[in-house]
Amino acid sequence: MKKVSVTAPGKLMLMGEHAVVYGYPCIVTAVNQCLKVTISENKDERIEIVAPQVKDTRFVEASIKYFEEKLDIKVTGICVTTDSTFSGIFGFGSSSAVTVAMLKALSVYFERDVSNDELFLLAYKVVLAVQGVGSGFDVAAAVYGGTFVYDKDQGRIRDLTDASKGMQLVVGYSGVKANTVKIVQEVAKQKEVEHEKITQIFSEIKQLVDAGEKCICASDWQALGALFSKNQYLLVQLSVSTQKLDAMVATATHAGAYGAKLSGAGGGDCMIALTGAEHVLTVAKAIEKVGGEIVQAKTNCPGVRVETTDDQKELFIIVDKDDKILEYRSRYDCHHDKSLMHRSVSLLVFHTDGRVLLQKRSMTKDTHPGYWTTAVGGHVTKGETYDQAIVRETREELGIGVIPVKHSVFSYAYPIETEMECMYTAVYDGPFHPSAEEIERVEFFTKKQLEDALKHGHMQLTELALYELRKVKFL
Ligand code: PMV
Repeated sequence: MKKVSVTAPGKLMLMGEHAVVYGYPCIVTAVNQCLKVTISENKDERIEIVAPQVKDTRFVEASIKYFEEKLDIKVTGICVTTDSTFSGIFGFGSSSAVTVAMLKALSVYFERDVSNDELFLLAYKVVLAVQGVGSGFDVAAAVYGGTFVYDKDQGRIRDLTDASKGMQLVVGYSGVKANTVKIVQEVAKQKEVEHEKITQIFSEIKQLVDAGEKCICASDWQALGALFSKNQYLLVQLSVSTQKLDAMVATATHAGAYGAKLSGAGGGDCMIALTGAEHVLTVAKAIEKVGGEIVQAKTNCPGVRVETTDDQKELFIIVDKDDKILEYRSRYDCHHDKSLMHRSVSLLVFHTDGRVLLQKRSMTKDTHPGYWTTAVGGHVTKGETYDQAIVRETREELGIGVIPVKHSVFSYAYPIETEMECMYTAVYDGPFHPSAEEIERVEFFTKKQLEDALKHGHMQLTELALYELRKVKFL
């Protein structure tokens, strides 16, 4: 069955809120509180949405509408479910995260290439259409992840992910859910009435953001903390802080934080305190003492990603060019380091009438999701021989027990990984019981059908399958 799961992170505004709405830069970080969207095949043509974590499903519905328009496609027959590791109340941006995750899931499910920049623009459009206001910084955090300087008109302008690695934040929830749209509108009204004063505040915030970026690049957390406190002072001038937030900020600084401020629109939600590692506990305790709730949020987290069903810790066999065993490394390592040549197996299955069986890989595979490939393909795991691996893989993937014939062993280099491949062949007419997790479907092809599909771009075939089909002179 076709099924795709995509996860997108929430965000915290580090500096520059409100000013960013008027074209000034801000600094944002993605947090490890994530929202997951799963799209699976529905029994009929209807679109079913089960999204208990999302406060309103308009973001999901609008994502479908805008995706259809942008990619000129009709979305039908899907079931959308959501799952979340954070509660919508903290103000971590669940609406933006669900929009980004939904659009990405649609693009993977319907096999349309959408770059991160395109995804950002599309998701921002959806968020604006539903919510009316917003600089899009939360959308950018959900797409790109990490920490970065953001500008409403130019998007993510400078990446600070590496530079931010040593930054230590304590996050406290004020117990009140903020109404971002209302507060942004209030600031807009204030700006109309006191144009000069508010513009002056925004330009001072910009100077702090510029200085903050330099501090992050220099890992000067103490100086960055002092800028947080100055930024908070300006937010108080904008009348967006609350007594509770003020108390949490003051106590955090008193307890040894380098500085603290509210994060986001204000009026509630969270505050952040920048601290040295030695003060994390005292600062957290002080925040709790004035009634704040400590939220365990890791910053600088990865952006939107497709979840894989492959166990990334599985151990593969690393060999040299003569197929001599050198060591064992995880699937993850093998798929991220081309120098780790690892043992793999593949099986070409032929029908007695000469057709070849191919499988369409599921969208949750960590490599080549959605591609057509040999009927069976897999890795040799620690402790296994090639022959044992191909029998296991054939049973797991096709649900059959055939006796494969060994064809040849050769090394094969993909752009991201290098395999020592042992290729097998077998003759079998079916029936097959494909693994629902790993395979979308299997199909027999004549030489002509396959050549036509490839010629007209109707099918994406893995390079390895193409190589092997040529090796046996099928193509
Ligand atoms: O309340 P939050 O966390 O969604 O942050 C709002 C930040 C603002 O700058 C006030 C608005 C915006 O969209 O940038």
